[in-house]
Amino acid sequence: MTQTKNDSVTLTDNRNGKSYTLPLLDGSTGPSVIDVRKLYSETGHFTFDPGYTSTGSCESKITYIDGDNGILLHRGYRIEDLASKCTFLEVAYLLLYGELPDAAQLEEFTKTITYHTMVHEQLSFMLRGFRRDAHPMAIMCGTTGALSAFYHDSLDILDPRQREISAHRLIAKIPTMAAMAYKYSVGQPFVYPRNELSYAGNFLQMMFGVPAENWKDNPVLTKAMDRIFILHADHEQNASTSTVRMAGSSGANPFACIAAGIASLWGPAHGGANEAVLKMLNEIGSKDRIPEFLARAKDKNDPFRLMGFGHRVYKNYDPRASVMRESCHEVLDALGKRNDPLLALAMELERIALEDPYFVEKKLFPNVDFYSGIILKAMGFPVEMFTVLFAVARTVGWIAQWKEMIEDPAMKIGRPRQLYTGATERAFVPLSGRG
Ligand code: ACO
Repeated sequence: MTQTKNDSVTLTDNRNGKSYTLPLLDGSTGPSVIDVRKLYSETGHFTFDPGYTSTGSCESKITYIDGDNGILLHRGYRIEDLASKCTFLEVAYLLLYGELPDAAQLEEFTKTITYHTMVHEQLSFMLRGFRRDAHPMAIMCGTTGALSAFYHDSLDILDPRQREISAHRLIAKIPTMAAMAYKYSVGQPFVYPRNELSYAGNFLQMMFGVPAENWKDNPVLTKAMDRIFILHADHEQNASTSTVRMAGSSGANPFACIAAGIASLWGPAHGGANEAVLKMLNEIGSKDRIPEFLARAKDKNDPFRLMGFGHRVYKNYDPRASVMRESCHEVLDALGKRNDPLLALAMELERIALEDPYFVEKKLFPNVDFYSGIILKAMGFPVEMFTVLFAVARTVGWIAQWKEMIEDPAMKIGRPRQLYTGATERAFVPLSGRG
């Protein structure tokens, strides 16, 4: 971060006529920020920004989004390049360590992650304590938080090696726990990880394999799964990542922090959106009902929103959505489902919405979730697992952001202020005197 040419902004308080100068800081790219860290001590005022639409909460070197132009970079590399030329573990290495691995580094990293994919056997007994119909995200919140009860030897957040081991454990074990949550819900035995398979291939075998049969890898589906993981790996300071950072800022252990991130991701405005897209497409049912649903999405008195459309940061086509759309066609072709009615409906909905003045004016474009639900359904994932898959992929982003925060000497506990509009101090009334 740099402060160039003594650039600053000046604020004038019209109540007392005083002026205050606030520094402007520049990152390596993107808009400048007004440094308000001394605002309260110098002016006696706080900023007010619910939803943090104008607030930068941290300095970061991991991910950059240019929402107006639909650009997403991880450590400077375009998501389209990473999604088409890398594996998920290469991207995971990039997010964690800042550079793409060379062949030897990738081999070593792959071995390390593979080595950690089994979970403590006791965790399977804990998982069996859930109801069979529990939502898998509920199970993921519980089991991820519980990792801190199983791996005491990597909880010292001040030890860089322990932080690294925790990061490796999380990236390795989250897919295993996700598959276990699914197997439990369908009453099938848990399937152990297999070290000779790729990260995505192993996940698919733990999800859909059974001990009674040899697993056969389908390269098209494995590639699609890997790409879905890459597309969801990190996305700057979104709600769940900010939750992980906030939880971690108190010094909480990384497993607990990632459990907090999973809880935040669960909501339909965030990770739950692809599940919501599929439900919406089923509700719309046929192309002739699209205008009716578009009218509802535009009606201020109707809470209905077009799910999979709109984004806090992207005011252009989400670059991840373009890759996802391409993958969607590849997967449906490979599975002989080219004429899937939901895909046809989604494409028609996208076409009509992109021509509609309401969506054009508000810059509402398809986001990454618009097509991901269709692919995942075609691959055999039940809708309840969609957000879980997002959590599996985002774990690497969360843990990379958590590590970056812990390693930042400027780290402080997250503690926003408020605009208080409640009762001012008043005299206490004893129970006998109330009513
Ligand atoms: N359908 C209809 N109208 C919409 C939609 C939508 N999907 N999204 C935004 N709008 C409208 C709002 O009504 C608002 O209109 P107004 O200015 O007349 O009041 C305007 O566009 C701006 O919307 P906000 O809610 O202020 O935008 P915000 O940045 O807070 O919300 C969000 C972003 C939550 C993603 C929103 O677009 C939305 O709810 N989309 C549907 C859910 C979804 O797809 N979420 C996935 C996000 S991507 C991810 O998490 C991986």
